[in-house]
Amino acid sequence: MSKPRAAVFDVKPYDRDSLVAAQRGENIDWSFHSFRLDPSTAAAVKDVDVGCVFVNDRADETALHTLAEAGVRHLALRCAGYNNVDLSAAKEHGICVTRVPSYSPHAVAEHTLALLLTLNRRIHRAYNRVRELNFSLHGLVGMDLHGKTAGVIGTGRTGALVAQIFRGFGMRVCAHDPYPNEEWAARYEVAYKPIESVFTDADIVSLHLPLTPDTRHLVNEHRLGLMKPGAILLNVSRGALVDTGALIKALKARKLGGVGLDVYEEEEGIFFEDLSNEMLDDDELARLLTFPNVLITSHQAFLTREALSEIARVTTENILRVHRKEPPLEDTEL
Ligand code: NAI
Repeated sequence: MSKPRAAVFDVKPYDRDSLVAAQRGENIDWSFHSFRLDPSTAAAVKDVDVGCVFVNDRADETALHTLAEAGVRHLALRCAGYNNVDLSAAKEHGICVTRVPSYSPHAVAEHTLALLLTLNRRIHRAYNRVRELNFSLHGLVGMDLHGKTAGVIGTGRTGALVAQIFRGFGMRVCAHDPYPNEEWAARYEVAYKPIESVFTDADIVSLHLPLTPDTRHLVNEHRLGLMKPGAILLNVSRGALVDTGALIKALKARKLGGVGLDVYEEEEGIFFEDLSNEMLDDDELARLLTFPNVLITSHQAFLTREALSEIARVTTENILRVHRKEPPLEDTEL
C-alpha cells in the first residue's frame, strides 16, 4: 500500500522532530512547510492526501476547497481546539477532520499555575531587576494564595486539573460549566455557581473552555466590571474568549491585579514567530505589553516533551488509519 502524503503547515523544528520520531512516523511521506495554512497558501501544496494543521492555520471554506482540489481527504489537527476549521465546508468537500482532543492537560494546567505564580510574586520583574543588580523589593508585594478564592470557567480536562492544583494550595474553588461534573466537584470540594457569581466572588478567574460563537468575548466589559478590585485573570484557552479592548480599559482603570495570557485574540501571525527585528503593528498587543501586571506567553502552555510526543503519536496513527480507510482513534474525529 502507498504511503499517505502529508503536508504539514506551520511547522517548527519541535513539530518536525516529534512527528518524524513518532512510532511508525516513517510510514508517512511528509512535506513540512513553515508557512501557515490560509486561503492564499493552500494552493502551494499539490498531490497530497493529508493537511496537517495547528492552532493558527486557517482552514476556512476557500482553503479547504483548494486543499480538496490538491487531493486532501484528511485534515489532521495537531491540537484540541478547532475554532479555526470550517467543519461544514470540510464535510462538503469530503474531508475527514481529526484532532488531538487531549495530549497533556497537565502541561496546560501547570503553565496556568506558572503564569499565576509569576504574576502574583512578580517573578518576571524580580528576574530582570536582579540581573541589573537592583536588589530592591519595591513594587514586588504579592498575596498569599492560601485562603483565596479561585474561579474556574470550564471544568473539562484542563480546568479540573487547575482546580485540583488550586485546592492543593489551600484555596477555595468555585466553578462554572454548563455540564457540571458533580461527583468530581464533591470530591475536590469545588462549588459550581452561575458564571456571574464566579466573576464576582473569585480573586483569580481562570478560563478553560473552548472558543465557539457562544463563548466569544465571554470576558467582556460587564464581566470585567464584576471582578473584585485587584483580581487576577488567566487565559490559556483561546484569545477571543476575552474582549481585548475591554481588558485594556479595565487595566487602565487599575481595576485588575494582574492578567496572565498564553493566548491573544489576534495572535495569528504573531505568536510562534520571532518578530524581534520588526515593528509590531498590533496596537492592542503593544499596549498590553506595557502593563507591568500583564504577563504574556506565546501560546506555549502545551509545550512539554510529553505533550509533543502524544500529539505526534495520535496524529501519525490517525493519518495511517484514515489512509487505510479505518476509523480514526476514538473521540478524535470531528
Ligand atoms: P475540554 O473539552 O476537556 O473542556 C472544556 C470544558 O468547557 C467542558 O467541560 C465544557 O462543558 C466547558 N464549557 C463549554 N462551554 C462553556 C461555557 N460557556 N462556560 C463554561 N464552560 C464551558 O477541553 P480542555 O482540554 O480542558 O481544553 C480547554 C481549551 O483549552 C481548549 O478548547 C483549547 O481551546 C484550549 N487549549 C489551549 C492550549 C494552549 O497551549 N494554550 C492547549 C490545549 C487546549
